[in-house]
Amino acid sequence: MAGMKRTGGGETAKRHAGERAAEAIDDGDVVGLGTGSTAAHAIRALGRRVDAGLDVTGVATSFQSRELAREVGVPLTTLDEAGNVDIAIDGADQFDQETGALIKGGGAAHAREKVVDASADRFLVVADPTKVARGLDASVPIEVLPAARRPVGTEIDALGGEPTLRRAERKDGPVVTDNGNLVLDCAFGALANPGALAADLASIPGVVAHGLFVDLADAVLVGTDEDVERYD
Ligand code: 5RP
Repeated sequence: MAGMKRTGGGETAKRHAGERAAEAIDDGDVVGLGTGSTAAHAIRALGRRVDAGLDVTGVATSFQSRELAREVGVPLTTLDEAGNVDIAIDGADQFDQETGALIKGGGAAHAREKVVDASADRFLVVADPTKVARGLDASVPIEVLPAARRPVGTEIDALGGEPTLRRAERKDGPVVTDNGNLVLDCAFGALANPGALAADLASIPGVVAHGLFVDLADAVLVGTDEDVERYD
């Protein structure tokens, strides 16, 4: 793909990725429904396929994806009831095209996303070209127990990161996740070893989930204004 000209970063590119991913869903599948604007296109496309007779059930990764699934008529189940997920479709904030590692959590939903995406037999990522990178250098969202915000921040510092409490855009207060926790956006600069950092972050008491998704994606579908590029 190197050198290929890609256009898009807007809704058309996101729609192309989401719609292509929804085509990969088979009759009878339990589908992990990701969070974010690109995954939303996949959920809408799935709703149209359900209207046309496809028999699937969805497992939502957030309040937002659950509401959208209800709106477009995708029947819902839970991980407890379904047992396993056949295919999960989810967005990403950054994608390393060399290793397939992802940074997620821009929508503060990465804790449930990781549970659902990791449970899936196939995990398809949907993205627009602005998410494609060589290496990872975006801030890593970390969901923390409210009572653990300070000690987790100290540990992040010790690992060379700069934690910033995520604040709600329109409200005077922090973002609170669907699980009732806070989010620290942690700037580490370029990540030399995302797998090692993922293990370090996961071992900090009070960390509920971090946004590094290493070795989880089976394929990444990058929509452009014209088409979809696939990375396996
Ligand atoms: C939510 C996520 C989203 O998938 C990620 O932020 C991408 O969102 P969008 O498709 O709107 O760019 O990880 O926690």
